[in-house]
Amino acid sequence: MLIMTANEIRQKFLEYMKGTGHAVVPSSSLIPDDPSVLLTTAGMQQFKKYYTGEADAMKDFGSKSTASVQKSFRTSDIESVGDERHLTFFEMLGNFSFGGYFKKEAITYGYEFITKVMGLEISYVTIFEGKEDIGVPKDVESKEIWKSLGVPEDKIIEQGMDDVFWGPTGSGGPCGPTTEIYAKGKSFTGEPLEVWNIVFNQFYYSGSREELNQGVEGKKLEPLPTPGVDTGMGLERLVMVSQDVPTIFEIDLFRNSLGALTDSIPDKRSARIIADHLRASTFLLADGVRPSNKERGYILRRLIRRMLVIAKRLNLPTDELIKYIGNIVKEYGNFYLELSVNSGVIVDEFRAEAKKFNATLDKGLKEFDRRYPAAKGSAVEGRHAGEDAFDLYQSYGFPLEVIGELLTERNYKFNEVEFRAKLDEEIKKHQEISRAGGEKKFGGHGLILDTGELKAGSEEELKTVTRLHTATHMLQKALREVLGDEVHQAGSDITTERTRFDFSFPRKLTPEEIKKVEDIVNQKVLEDLPMNKVVLPKAEAEKTGALFFFKEKYPDPVSVYYLGQNIETAWSKEFCGGPHVTRSGEVGKLKILKEEAVGSGMRRIRATVE
Ligand code: ALA
Repeated sequence: MLIMTANEIRQKFLEYMKGTGHAVVPSSSLIPDDPSVLLTTAGMQQFKKYYTGEADAMKDFGSKSTASVQKSFRTSDIESVGDERHLTFFEMLGNFSFGGYFKKEAITYGYEFITKVMGLEISYVTIFEGKEDIGVPKDVESKEIWKSLGVPEDKIIEQGMDDVFWGPTGSGGPCGPTTEIYAKGKSFTGEPLEVWNIVFNQFYYSGSREELNQGVEGKKLEPLPTPGVDTGMGLERLVMVSQDVPTIFEIDLFRNSLGALTDSIPDKRSARIIADHLRASTFLLADGVRPSNKERGYILRRLIRRMLVIAKRLNLPTDELIKYIGNIVKEYGNFYLELSVNSGVIVDEFRAEAKKFNATLDKGLKEFDRRYPAAKGSAVEGRHAGEDAFDLYQSYGFPLEVIGELLTERNYKFNEVEFRAKLDEEIKKHQEISRAGGEKKFGGHGLILDTGELKAGSEEELKTVTRLHTATHMLQKALREVLGDEVHQAGSDITTERTRFDFSFPRKLTPEEIKKVEDIVNQKVLEDLPMNKVVLPKAEAEKTGALFFFKEKYPDPVSVYYLGQNIETAWSKEFCGGPHVTRSGEVGKLKILKEEAVGSGMRRIRATVE
């Protein structure tokens, strides 16, 4: 086994790929061109259009295949950071073919690079076992190729969708079965690590991965005209195997830049989180991400703030962290020039965010202590933990997972389910925003409707969201009938699956109230009321008693949609841009799926129509 530095491995990889006819392409930014994803999560992202045939690799790169070392970031791994091998930011070595070579060459390159160039032993490989109901057979071809290279049959493991079927990313795109290489260092006592994922992009799926898993009607898995190859090998993991170290934080890249810092922190998990987050933040800042409350800015904010809470309790001054940003820039700045070029801005932005958060951090921690005094003995139930989390998040800027961690530390058994739901909600919100943007742009799958509140990509989706839209008006009216006029819309979001309606109300609804709301709406569905629209000057429109979200949002004159024969006697009236069904009977039966808090005094209902 050869021991190589990370720098050498990057170079060897690119040299090997160049030698086999790949055009070497620089890493793209962590801020992707494709708006259906917040951050670059894989090397293939910058090449999406070459797989679909929208762009020609031969023309752009002089080759049908490329190779890169790509800066990547996976939010899905944030919570796993702290163990031996998970990171948020990582570098991905990849080679790609767009209608050029296919399985035989891709597997051969993988085999040769790992065993010959790196001098490593392959522990085992995996191949796709097939899934009949989506029409993808077992990958017998890959199995035969591995065998022909000398990998014994008992080291070729068959796996399913969860493990060896990749993509699509974002709202749709190339995807297909994969074969993976597992390896480990000689003295490493743990399970072998997945080091290389070789994806065969044979298909194009018109929906998200979630939709592919669920088999959503109307979304199709179709063969790509020119199948491609997309591979990804996590550099840090490969280095970990090559350098035969027990954790990813002991590879040279981390030791050189952050070793002195992590050695000074006795708690391993805290040390690893700081190392990961500091490095990731440096790279995000270098690519122009700025801390904010939305989308990728919020991801960065979470990383920085989580780090600062940990640092505070370790008595580690912000300046000390900043000093290490300098080390990271030094370690990586030759390969990623954007780090060297932007080092001043990186530090300034980091310092500014730290200043902002440190100003409320003490207060926030005090408030936290007040609400959750350290409990002795066995863990106590934190009844409001889910709601408090949101509150503390809004008032003091504590990221949600930090609140979860603090609760656990203080010995509170908080409501994990409630808390998770909140966290998921936040993440979903970000995804939905980005997905909407993505659908507009990617692959010609244009949205035919996007009002911000509702989006549809086809006539069929348009019908569904239109029914749900009218249902949302009816829901608001019924809520006011059951709970009173203090119910005010605070937001809504409609997908083809459901409507989500946020409104002001101070407490949880009882099952009886929920049932009553459903019954009222369904009664009005049976009455088959006509939906009418009238355009009025805003002042006039207000006088009709029509509901509105907030006045400034609407143009003047404004359309008022009302359910009933005339606007005076109509059952429901709202300022609205439409579209709506023509009669309430078309809405179908309303079912409330879930009712929950989304902040103090704020509730959220998800409902669907049958
Ligand atoms: N795109 C594939 C991955 O990220 C190679 O695993």
